[in-house]
Amino acid sequence: MSDLKKIKDEFLSKLRSKLDLSEVNKIKSDLFSKNGLITNQFKKIGSIPESERKKYATDLNAIKDELQDLITLKLNEIETLEVNEKLQNEKVDVTLPERPIARGKIHPVSQTIDEISSIFSEIGFSVEEGPDVENEYNNFTALNTPEHHPARDMHDTFYLDEKKQKLLRTHTSPVQIRTMLKDKPPFKIIAPGRTYRSDSDQTHSPMFHQVEGLHIDKNINMGDLKGCLNYFIKEFFEVDKIKMRFRPSHFPFTEPSAEVDIGYKIKDGKIIIGEGDQWLEILGCGMVHPNVLKNVKVDPNKFQGYAFGIGIDRLAMLKYGINDLRAFFECDYRWLNHFGFDPLDVPTNYRGLSR
Ligand code: PHE
Repeated sequence: MSDLKKIKDEFLSKLRSKLDLSEVNKIKSDLFSKNGLITNQFKKIGSIPESERKKYATDLNAIKDELQDLITLKLNEIETLEVNEKLQNEKVDVTLPERPIARGKIHPVSQTIDEISSIFSEIGFSVEEGPDVENEYNNFTALNTPEHHPARDMHDTFYLDEKKQKLLRTHTSPVQIRTMLKDKPPFKIIAPGRTYRSDSDQTHSPMFHQVEGLHIDKNINMGDLKGCLNYFIKEFFEVDKIKMRFRPSHFPFTEPSAEVDIGYKIKDGKIIIGEGDQWLEILGCGMVHPNVLKNVKVDPNKFQGYAFGIGIDRLAMLKYGINDLRAFFECDYRWLNHFGFDPLDVPTNYRGLSR
C-alpha cells in the first residue's frame, strides 16, 4: 500500500470516531503542521519520477482536501455541541415568579432637577456644573461682591481655611463666572447643584439646592427674563395660568434686581398654584451687572443679559406637598419610599413631568 493510501485510511478512520476538541486539533497538527505527514508528502513531490509525478500530485491534493474537509466538519460539530451544552446549562426559566427585591427610588430633589433641566433644555438652555468647594473669587469677588461688601454677610459662609480663600459655595452663581471664563458669548445655560449656608430650621437647611440661569446675548432684556420665568413656572407646575410678582431687590451681581413670588392658595389642605392671594418667594434674578461681564472679559457694550437663581428644594416641596425641608436630607427609607419616584419614570416635557 502506498504511503498516501496508508495515511488516508488511518486518519479517515480516526476522524470518524468520537473526538474532543484537543484530539481533532492534534490530528490537524499531525497532518498539516510544518513537519506534518501531508506537508512532508508535498515536500517529496520533487523527487518522484516525472512519469508518476502528475498522478501523485493529483492524488495528494485530493487526499489533502478530503482530510481537511473532514477536520473542518468535526470542528464545527464540536462547536455546535458546546454551544448547545452552554445554552442548556444557562437556561433562564422566564416563567418563574419574580423574586421580591428591594427597589431604589429617585429622591424628589433629583427628580425636580431632572424636570427643571428638561423644561429649560426645551428652550435652548444647556446644563453646566461647578464644584461645591469654590474659591472666594468666583463665589464673591468676580460677582461684584468685593471684600467688606455687606452682601457677603448675608450669606453665612462656611469657610474652609483661615485665609478665607476656599469655601463651600453659597449659591450657584459662581458657575456663571466659570462658564463665561471658559467660553465666548452668547451664553444660555442653567446650572443646578448643591449650595451651603450656615442656617438651619424648618425652611432652611445648611445644604440646599439651587439652579442658576444665565442668558447673555446681544439684545436680551428684562422682558426676555420675564417671559422665560413665566414659561418655566407654568411648565413646572403643569398649569395654564400663573400669578407672578416681581419685587425690586438687590444683588451685587445684577442691576436692576428682583425677587419673584408666585401666587397660590390653600384649598382643602392642598396648595393650588396660580390662584388666590398668598405669595411665595421662589427666586432672585436681574440683568447681569456690567462689572461682572468685565470681570470675565465680556464687553458689556456689546453683550448683556439676565441671570436668575431658583431655590430647588422649595419648588419640590410645593409641587409634591412636602412640608418640612429637613425631611429631604434625613435619609429615612420609609419617607423616600413614599415620596420617591420610579427610576424608569424619567421626566420629559412631552411625556409629562410628574407621573
Ligand atoms: N445667587 C442669588 C442668591 O443665592 C440668586 C440670584 C442669582 C440672583 C442670579 C440674581 C441673579 O440669593
